[in-house]
Amino acid sequence: MTNSPRPLIAGNWKMNGLGASLAEATALAQALAAEPAAARVALCPPATLIERMSRQLAGSAVEIGGQDCRAEASGAFTGDVSAEMLADAGARLVILGHSERRAGYGETDALVSAKVEAALRAGLEPIVCVGETLAEREAGQAVAVVAAQVAGSLPTAVAGKPFSVAYEPVWCIGSGCIPTIEQIEEVHVAVRAALVARLGEAGKGAAILYGGSVKPANAADIMKVREVGGALVGGASLKAADFLPIVRAV
Ligand code: 13P
Repeated sequence: MTNSPRPLIAGNWKMNGLGASLAEATALAQALAAEPAAARVALCPPATLIERMSRQLAGSAVEIGGQDCRAEASGAFTGDVSAEMLADAGARLVILGHSERRAGYGETDALVSAKVEAALRAGLEPIVCVGETLAEREAGQAVAVVAAQVAGSLPTAVAGKPFSVAYEPVWCIGSGCIPTIEQIEEVHVAVRAALVARLGEAGKGAAILYGGSVKPANAADIMKVREVGGALVGGASLKAADFLPIVRAV
């Protein structure tokens, strides 16, 4: 484990979830009330569910996060959601720079950095995603790509604020395959070094989450890896029965 205060297990529901899915969130909260977890637990549902989930889970151990935000606080940006709006709806965290947004919407490190600034402005805790593609890994560039993303996506304003970095190798997202323990450790150690290079002392405490095909069966082994301070979980976070054993793997 890392030297961060408390590991974070966050579920990214991506574009999944209707009102009926709130029952899964409630089941998770009830299980954690009956038996508290060592980890912090968060769910990041689609924006349409944030307010309802926040009300339903008020007072529970489950924190709520958004999946993206616009850098501006308000304005003529049809279809977009600001950090302030997420916070107003009850979110406390926000995922930024997910590879699906970097690839699908051309989000650059500079844009992600601006979004991190917006999250901090709104009092949200950013979870900043980095990760190499398969082609980059095969070219031997995984560590260099990820270190550059850390340096470019984190404004110095995060120093002293709660935030985390999620290492999500793009080739492992939704693929069912995960890197070897050695590959995870190599990149997490490099992320820590990049954080310290960028932020000094403040780079030492942030949790570095692993994401990409985390399942109940592999979570415990991943959590033991040096500099792994939690997980960002996609598909396996949609059902409480799958997510709970991952939460308890810490
Ligand atoms: P999966 O857990 O479905 O591979 O997704 C990982 C992810 O992208 C979380 O943000």
